[in-house]
Amino acid sequence: MTTGWTKSDWRKKPREQMPDYPDAAALAAVEAQLAKYPPLVFAGEARRLKHALGEVAEGRAFLLQGGDCAESFAEFSADNIRDTFRVMLQMAVVLTWGAKLPVVKVGRMAGQFAKPRSAPTEVMGGVELPSYRGDIINGFDFTPEARIPDPARMLQAYTQAAASLNLLRAFSTGGFADIGRVHSWTLGFADQDKAERYREISGRISDALEFMSAAGVSARTAPSLSQVDFYTSHEALLLEYEEALCRIDSTTGLPVAGSGHMIWIGDRTRQPDGAHVTFCEGVQNPIGLKCGPSLTSDDLKRLIERLNPTNEAGRLTLIARFGAGKVGEHLPRLIRAVREAGAHVVWSCDPMHGNTIKSASGYKTRPFESVLREVREFFEIHRAEGTIPGGVHFEMTGKDVTECTGGLRAVSDEDLSDRYHTACDPRLNASQALELAFLVAEELSAAGTRPAAAAL
Ligand code: PEP
Ligand code: CO
Repeated sequence: MTTGWTKSDWRKKPREQMPDYPDAAALAAVEAQLAKYPPLVFAGEARRLKHALGEVAEGRAFLLQGGDCAESFAEFSADNIRDTFRVMLQMAVVLTWGAKLPVVKVGRMAGQFAKPRSAPTEVMGGVELPSYRGDIINGFDFTPEARIPDPARMLQAYTQAAASLNLLRAFSTGGFADIGRVHSWTLGFADQDKAERYREISGRISDALEFMSAAGVSARTAPSLSQVDFYTSHEALLLEYEEALCRIDSTTGLPVAGSGHMIWIGDRTRQPDGAHVTFCEGVQNPIGLKCGPSLTSDDLKRLIERLNPTNEAGRLTLIARFGAGKVGEHLPRLIRAVREAGAHVVWSCDPMHGNTIKSASGYKTRPFESVLREVREFFEIHRAEGTIPGGVHFEMTGKDVTECTGGLRAVSDEDLSDRYHTACDPRLNASQALELAFLVAEELSAAGTRPAAAAL
């Protein structure tokens, strides 16, 4: 952290993608209110996640980060939270098998409300209105009133995040996460038609669980098989909200973002001297940095210097999102920059944001094959460079939506309109997300994917 940093320093810096609130007094009142509320997460938890990510950086654990593109007020329900949590646990078991490593589980949940947009306005039927920027900022409805930024939405987002976290904490320790239960759901998936390829892996996981149980290690005897650590994350885009929830950690006396365990900086807001980097550099949480094709090697070095000047393990996760076919052009040069900086980072792969296309039917979609291809390119390059492919980052939901095309239960262009519910980018559905976990597990179990782990 830079000495003398304060949580409002970002206000003096150029800002991108943030709303102009028309009512300054209403904004100030909401900020004052939020500043009095309890933090949603605690500093010790953020520190624990940082430690776990330090293990990922060294190849001793694997990161799974996933959830909605944008959480919404309308879709908020216990069932939705449970279903996303459930499929993430299933994916984590499969990835644990593939990587032979513990999987660090981080949801894009309980705070993932604010969205950067490619254009400030949207045009529909000849009418132009300000873009929708996520439920924490304005409304999805295509009306002038809905699109006015309303600070009161921050209070609703806080309440929803608090209730989501409450449920996630209960699910994590209350029996829901029992590995036998989680695996039995996966067996159901692998039993369906066309899933032969995944039956072998799920059968081997069953064997491993049966063996452990026979040897006296089961959910009844080992808490690690019945409980999980589950962390939350979101893009720290709306800095008024982040500042209002920033707290001083009583153990270290240092500032911590109380809005989520991990926060990340988006590809559009990572200007080295911009508002978002300035806020994130001062808080103790693990920080993610989206790395898209326009990120130069020099800027990456500058960002590493600002965000992790002491080269702390687990502090910085670089989330590569180039698009299938473009990883070879960008990842090697950024790996070189990290090497030249002598930096310890987690490399994670977001194969979603570089692969968004407009389908023939007009929907924004992502082909499953492109998503998979980008993940494979990511692994291949890390193998070639001798660096560690530390994790994956997906936009996904536990529901059976039709937003991305392809997968085992092939969603076609024509199917997209059936259940297209996302408030923003298209998400993998539960089946596509789990299938991808199986395919990533295959990559991980291939020889030579884990240089550091192999040395253990
Ligand atoms: C996102 O993760 O939803 C997002 C907007 O990503 P990016 O900043 O990488 O475009
Ligand atoms: Co998105």
